[in-house]
This record gives sequence, C-alpha cells and structure tokens, in this order.
Amino acid sequence: MFDPHEVRRDFPILERKIKGRRLVYFDNAATTQKPRQVIEAIVEFYSKHNANVHRGLHTLSQEASEMYEKAHETLAKFINAYSWDEVVFCNNTTDAMNLLAYTWGLQNLGEGDEVVTTIMDHHSTMLPWRKIAALKKAVVKYIDVTAEGYLDYGSLDQVITRRTKVVVFTMASNVLGTINNVKEIVRRAREVGAIVVGDAAQFTPHLPTNVRELGLDFLAFSGHKMLGPTGSGVLWGRRDLLDELGTFKVGGDTIKDVTLDDVVWLELPWRFEAGTPNIEAGIGLAAAAEYLMRLGMENVREHEKTLVDYFLKRLSEEFPDEVTVYGPRRAEDKTGVVSFNVKGLHHHTVGSALDFFGIAVRTGLHCAHPLHYRLKITYLDPPPEKIPSSPDERLKTFGSVRASFYIYNTREEIDYFIDVMKKIIELKEALQKNPVEAVCTGG
Ligand SMILES: Cc1ncc(COP(=O)(O)O)c(C=O)c1O
Repeated sequence: MFDPHEVRRDFPILERKIKGRRLVYFDNAATTQKPRQVIEAIVEFYSKHNANVHRGLHTLSQEASEMYEKAHETLAKFINAYSWDEVVFCNNTTDAMNLLAYTWGLQNLGEGDEVVTTIMDHHSTMLPWRKIAALKKAVVKYIDVTAEGYLDYGSLDQVITRRTKVVVFTMASNVLGTINNVKEIVRRAREVGAIVVGDAAQFTPHLPTNVRELGLDFLAFSGHKMLGPTGSGVLWGRRDLLDELGTFKVGGDTIKDVTLDDVVWLELPWRFEAGTPNIEAGIGLAAAAEYLMRLGMENVREHEKTLVDYFLKRLSEEFPDEVTVYGPRRAEDKTGVVSFNVKGLHHHTVGSALDFFGIAVRTGLHCAHPLHYRLKITYLDPPPEKIPSSPDERLKTFGSVRASFYIYNTREEIDYFIDVMKKIIELKEALQKNPVEAVCTGG
C-alpha cells in the first residue's frame, strides 16, 4: 500500500493556499490534479519532440508519432485490452459516447428498438443515446434506482427485453458513488442479444479495469479524471464491433486514399481520430496510466475505500440529524464519492463556506438531474411533495454537495473537513440569512 503523504509530494498544486489556508481538494470526481510526472511528460514532448504525427518523414515527426502510438499501447495495458488498436483516443467520455452513438447507434437502431440506460446516468452518456434514439424513432427506457442508491436489479428482466439493442450505463455513479453490478447487466443483455456499453468515467480511475473480464462491448472513460490532461479520453471496443463501425468525424488522418468518387478509410484506431489529435494529451495520459500502474489499481481502490469508510463514519457520528447522505453506506459498494446535504442550508452556500476554509467540493446537480429529481435530493427538509414544473424552480430546489477522494487525500484532511462542517452547522442560521457575510465574520 502506498503512503498518500508521499504521493502528495508529486502534486505541486497541493502546496497551494486558498484564502490563506492549505488547499484540501475533494473535487476529484470532476477532475483530478496532475502529478509532476504528467506535467513533465507534456513539457518534455513540447521541448524535445513536438511535430505533427503520422505525416512527416522527418525525425521529430517520427518521434512524435512513436510516442503517440506508444501512448495507445500503455492505455491498452492499463485496461488489459487485447491489442493497442482497440484503444481510440477521444477528448473525454462525452466525446467517446457521441462517437459510439453516432456510429453504432445510427447504423443499428431502428424504429421501435429499445435503448436502455439508467436513471443514475450522467447526461454525457444519456443524451447522445437519447438523441440518436429520437433520430431513429427508437424507445429509451431507464433502469430505476432504489431509495438506497442502488440500481433496481429486480426490474432488469422487465426493462431489458427482446427489443433492446443496446444497454448503456454508468459503471459507478458520479453522485452516489454506487459501483454498479456490471456482470448482472451483461448477463441480462446477453440473454436478449443486446450490446453493452460501460461509462467508466468514475470507474476506471478508481478500480482495476480489465476489459477481458468485464464482458462489455464498449467502454469509455476520461483521462482528466485519472491524473491525465484535459482533452484526453478513451473509447475501447471489442475488435469485431469496432471493425464494423462506420466513421464519425471524417477528414485528414482518417483515410488511406481519396479519389473524387471514393474513400478508403484507415485501419483502427486512426479512422476514428480525425484531424491532428491532441498529441500532448495522449502522451500525458500515458504518463498518468504509468503512474497509477506503479501505485497499483488494487491499492488505489483500497486507499479510497478506507477514506470513504472513515468519512461516512465521521459524518454519521458527528452530524446524525443535520446531514443527509445519499447512496450506499457501505464502503465496499461505492467509490470515493459522497454526496450530501446539510438540512436547511442550500448546497451552494455550503460549497462557498467550505471554499472559504480552503476545501474544494462540487455543488449542484452534477450533470445527473434526473437522479436528483428521482431521489428528491435537496437541502429542503422535508423535500417538496411534487417536483416543480419550472426548470428554474427545480434547479434552485434540488442539488447536493459532493466530496470525492483520490490517491493524495488523507484522513487528516477528512478530520479538518469535519471540523469545518461543525463551524458551518453552528453558523447555520446566520448562513441562511446572509451566506457570504456569515462565513467571513463567523469563520
Ligand atoms: C459518470 C460520468 N460519465 C461521464 C462524464 C463526462 O465526462 P467528461 O466531462 O470528461 O466527458 C462524467 C463527468 O463527470 C461522469 O462522472
């Protein structure tokens, strides 16, 4: 097991002071910080090897091409793919999902077919498929979520039917942290002959990902949520299915030859990586994957499990009545993501107050609005009986504060967080009246 205090030394940004206090970064589900190994890989690329890939015969271009191709190999190793060319570099998970929906979805969906997703899915996964389903007159169905924040596995046989062509779901919730039962979903999808697409944006950065064992057909994740640069992400697919996919974005770097009447597309993965790619992001992502492999993904998982277990325990011991926590309470069932509300205090007020003490968390509906409405996730106590019909009213009413951990977070940071939460709860009435002033004077 690694020591998070030692890991922290690799992250220059963790030295930063925020409003005079040491940064406590608990916004890792949004994006993670970058170690100097990733930063240096990017600097090294620009300082010594920068050129466009795939094109030039000159030395720099060959070096850049080699580094970029090797980055695909590293990512293939990271997820145990059979081959490097099953790994398509994308900008992020959103980009990967759009690529897939606009290729596989357009090619394979027809009127009356069913697309199944879940109520806990991120908009980035839900919306590309909803859009393509609408274009093809297919029906979108949702696996429900229980009050405890698990998928309703009892309903799988009713929701996934012989009409289902694709099941696309988040492997770990970005709001509840719930780790979903991939095997169970794959089992049911196979029974009806549907393909299965995993949104691994909150999974691959936190748990070992072995695409040979998971049984999925496609998997998408973002590099920036696993120590890599923004603008990096991966779509992995089963070789036979990738081979059948038509093109999405087309242009330079996707073709072998073009005449005025014909196009001969390049082999995998290049025919999906149109135009000059984000070379430095791919190289940086490979450095991030190397970093995580050195730590060991089993250890990353263990570290987060220990932290989330401690965090949940402290929250429930210290604030049994004042704080509502959403999603599973058992650390085994979740990643290091914990969303909560302080009863009676708007989530944005809590987030701003935490920032005043140097703590970065995310507040809002976390790109999972349907989930917030379904579980009535709100600071109001009790929650409203009915979901308001006006979008503005809904957005004001619902939301949560999300703390999310990663390899450099420590127990000491959680203790500090709990101390700050005590102050915030003491100041609750003043904060309700005047959020900003109360923190500035009371803190
Ligand atoms: C579960 C899940 N899916 C998809 C995404 C979209 O990721 P990106 O913004 O990197 O495309 C996120 C981002 O938070 C996420 O948490």
